[in-house]
Amino acid sequence: MAHASPQPLSGLPSGPLTGRVSIPGDKSISHRSLMFGALAEGTTRISGLLESDDILATAGAMRAYGAAIDSDGRGSWTVQGVGSRGFAEPERAIDFGNAGTGVRLTMGLAGTCAFASTFVGDASLSRRPMGRVLDPLRQMGTEVIARGGDRLPLTLRGTASMQPISYRVPMASAQVKSAVLLAGINLPGVTTVIEPVATRDHTERMLRGFGAELETEAGGGGETIIRLQGRPNLKAQDIIVPGDPSSAAFLIVAGLLVEGSDVTVADVLLNPARTGLLTTLREMGADITIENERLTGGEAIGDVRVRGSRLKGVTVPPNRAPSMIDEYPVLAVAAAFAEGETVMDGLEELRVKESDRLAAVARGLEANGVVCREGPASLTVTGGKVRGGGHVTTHLDHRIAMSFLVMGLAAEKPVTVDDVAMIATSFPGFVDLLSGLGARFGASAVAA
Ligand code: S3P
Repeated sequence: MAHASPQPLSGLPSGPLTGRVSIPGDKSISHRSLMFGALAEGTTRISGLLESDDILATAGAMRAYGAAIDSDGRGSWTVQGVGSRGFAEPERAIDFGNAGTGVRLTMGLAGTCAFASTFVGDASLSRRPMGRVLDPLRQMGTEVIARGGDRLPLTLRGTASMQPISYRVPMASAQVKSAVLLAGINLPGVTTVIEPVATRDHTERMLRGFGAELETEAGGGGETIIRLQGRPNLKAQDIIVPGDPSSAAFLIVAGLLVEGSDVTVADVLLNPARTGLLTTLREMGADITIENERLTGGEAIGDVRVRGSRLKGVTVPPNRAPSMIDEYPVLAVAAAFAEGETVMDGLEELRVKESDRLAAVARGLEANGVVCREGPASLTVTGGKVRGGGHVTTHLDHRIAMSFLVMGLAAEKPVTVDDVAMIATSFPGFVDLLSGLGARFGASAVAA
């Protein structure tokens, strides 16, 4: 999983992008498919699983707990589950590489088991806060051994005094919500999670699909109350993973920014908890149409067609952030080409992603001649023509790398990112796929 040396690359000014492409499966649903398959009785079959480094790390973890996981090499995977109380003690530390979702959800799953689990990760993951998952686990009775201030590496062990809790999630985080619910699977009684703002609901939908008793109820002031009955009997399922809207985002923005483009991204997940970017781009004047909209496995999917568009700046409402949290870096790139100011606020969670994305985006914009203002939880971008020609530091963050490569396709001069190796954590084949639409990439000027 560790990449030996950085691989710089430049996005080069490109002619129109045209064509129809399929993108890899959704990362959130892929992690959960492997986890819930491992917890279920019987054989779960998954097609369209995202075969990226982050997901392979989760597959490795589920094998370490006793599940048998196989691929036919053509995109179909099987998970032979161990049952919801059948996890076995792993023999060694579990390495999650760059995968925040993988490690945080697995901490929930394993933290209430009566054995020790040790988790490690790469430099980026080892800097990220884990207290947000450890706090509720401690309340449930989990013993936590963390020397580095609630960061990886750390060890969890379930104790004899575990009990379900009612937990109000203090930040907008689907990972924290999910970790608490998954911890509750192991415990008798009802685990309750109160979400002040709605975040992606894949855990709730999929746990129900696997047979758990889980209810959601609207509380006052926009909050959601989720109750899970512990110790469910989960039954294996057949899962089709839809295309990842957070990966589609890069192709969509590239198609909008490069003049004369006409790009269709097929089979994209359109769950409303994930479509904030489409709403925002439309407000900016983007020509986006959804074709062939349908339901697959309880999720809306469709083909997203975009044509090169002149964009204008907008103010993005802060309460939209959870539905597009991973899309702000590429939205900031779109904003750099839009006429006028784009104001993005409510972005505190961007500080604790694979990198401090707010700072990484602001520095990347500045390096390419774009005027922007970074606040503690906000970013204002003044758009227009983008000079480009800058060198961008990615800080082991796949979405920073992809966003600025896209900038290079539409800027006056190439945009260089210091490393593209990390793109494999979420979007293997990104450069080839865009090249197939007509995008140009080149060896980097900073390679020497
Ligand atoms: C995810 C939740 C989000 C998102 C991440 C995937 C998930 O993280 O950024 O890429 O699958 O639950 P937070 O829960 O930290 O917002």
